[in-house]
Parts: sequence; structure tokens; C-alpha cells
Amino acid sequence: MNVEEKIEPALSVLELSDPFHMCSVAMRFGLVPPAVETARVLEIGCGSGGSILPIASLLPDAKIVGIASDPHDVVAAKAIAEKMGVKNAHFWQLDWSELGPHLGEYDYIVCHDLFTRIESHLQREILSAISSLLTPSGVAYLSYDVKPGFDVRKMLANFISKKAAHFTKLGDRFSWKMEALFVLDELAKECKELDLLRHDPVYSNADDVLTSWMHAESVPLLFTDFARMLADHNLQFIGESDFFVREDLSPLILGSMSRTELERDRVRAEQYEDFVRCRASRRSLVCHSGLPLTLPDVRRLTATAGAYSSDSLTA
Ligand SMILES: C[S@@+](CC[C@H](N)C(=O)[O-])C[C@H]1O[C@@H](n2cnc3c(N)ncnc32)[C@H](O)[C@@H]1O
Repeated sequence: MNVEEKIEPALSVLELSDPFHMCSVAMRFGLVPPAVETARVLEIGCGSGGSILPIASLLPDAKIVGIASDPHDVVAAKAIAEKMGVKNAHFWQLDWSELGPHLGEYDYIVCHDLFTRIESHLQREILSAISSLLTPSGVAYLSYDVKPGFDVRKMLANFISKKAAHFTKLGDRFSWKMEALFVLDELAKECKELDLLRHDPVYSNADDVLTSWMHAESVPLLFTDFARMLADHNLQFIGESDFFVREDLSPLILGSMSRTELERDRVRAEQYEDFVRCRASRRSLVCHSGLPLTLPDVRRLTATAGAYSSDSLTA
């Protein structure tokens, strides 16, 4: 069985935090974000520039800044930029607590793969930096792990690995782990709502997947707590960055809340969504509080997508 063939399409991190993509999703929610070609883009905690350097090379007229506290990251990012011939990316060794308006404003801010790996007072420092550096119509991207899916993954990985230890032969142990992941995948296919395996498409090596599930250093958040933290910093949730792939809220939620209720209480709807899907991680787009958001008509979008499906085109 080829597992990768069965995985639903998902956008990569690079695509999800690409300012063009952030801009187009934000526009679906009625916002008018800044022009992308000449944007000022900041990545907080940029590592060696893996996410932001491709953006810099695609947008030669944009001003790109990456900050990281680790000097090795900054040296590596600068060296790679030079090798790529990228001239519009700048990397600063800086603690995010030092970020302030004196360092300029940014139209798009990206913070990937660190938010739930750090303590809550540091999460607040990041939100405070985003709040003070984001231009009035700017859009920020934050990735983070969420309950309940993240905890469920850990629990399942522990169970599968403990059971595997009962097999004395290495081959048998490996087969059991693969089988267990296949069963989980089948379950996810049967129960369309379940999101457990999404965002984890590479599991030809069962050990890698289980190890990454078990030993992830992240402390997952409840979406409601994330939304509350945003509000404390005068920020608000726009929608998920993988909006187009996911078609937004699941039919179960759409069927049980009216459009008015959804618009009035998006945080509650999104939290239900995490429980229903057993979601493990999020990649959320965020803007300043007070900007008027309109909820895209998901039913109409889905129907339109149906009209253009390959089935209907060949019919
Ligand atoms: C897990 S890496 C994320 C790399 C990058 N975002 C990516 O997706 O490839 C965490 C990054 O955060 C940076 N970092 C950690 N604590 C920081 C702090 N207090 N201020 C600024 N950067 C910090 C590290 O130097 C590192 O570059």
C-alpha cells in the first residue's frame, strides 16, 4: 500500500507563509492587505533563513528581515543569502524582546515552528512585538500546536511504541509500527473529520513519525487560549492559512451553527472544529483588532469548486 498516495493534498510551510498566499487568504475574509511586491516582511526566529530566503528571491523589490537570537543561525542565513545572490534580505542577531517600532514597521510578519515551544511569557513577547510592528492593514502568520490532536498523537505514539517493544525481532517491530500507522490512516479516511494525520505526510519511516510525535517539545494550546492572548495584544484571528485546501470549517460545524452565529462567535466555532477534527496544529493568519472581517461563504465556495472538479469537466 502506498501511503503517500492516500494523503490529502496539503500546502507546504513555504506556501502557507508566502506573503502572496497570506494576502489572498486575507482578501477572502474581506481585508485589503498591503501590496506584496514591495512589502516589508519580517520573520521572527528565522533559523538559517529556510522560509524567508525563498520569499526574498521571489520578491526582489520587497524588504526582507529575519531575526534570530542564535548567532550561528544568523551567520548561516547570511552565507546562504550570499550564495543565492539574494540582496534584499537582512539578518539580525536580536532577541525578540528587543523588537520595537525603532526597527521599522512590517506588512507581513511570519513566526513559524516556535510559538508553542516557548514559555507563555515569551509567547506574549512575540505577540507584543507583532502588535507594535505590524502595519495597520498588515497580516501575520503564526504556526503552533493545539489540543486535543497534539496530545492524542503523543498518547498513540507511546502506545504503539510500547506494544512494538514486545516483538523481539527488529523486522516484526517495524512491521507492527507501520501497520498501526496504516490503521490510523484508514481511520482518518473513514472518518473524514479526523485531522490527526494531516500535516504529517512523510511517514514511510514509521520510527521517524512516532519519534517526532512522542518527543515533540511543544506544549499545545487550546485555540480559545490562543485567541484570548491575541485579544490581549489588540490582535485578532483572520482564518487558517490553509483555508483553500481545507474549505474552512467542517460540515459538522457548518450544519450546527447559523452563519450569524458563526460570524458572531468564530472563536467558539474554531474551538469546536479542533475538537471535532482532533486537530494537532494550526497555521493561523492574524491582523489588528477592529479591522472588519467578513466570513467567506464556504458553502458557495465548495459548490463552486464542485462545478470545476475534474469529474464535472469530463462528464
Ligand atoms: C525552531 S527554529 C525556527 C526556524 C524557522 N522559523 C523555520 O521554520 O525554519 C527557532 C528559531 O528561533 C530563534 N529564537 C529562539 N529564541 C529567540 C529569541 N528569544 N529571540 C529571537 N530569536 C529566538 C532561534 O535562534 C531559531 O532561529
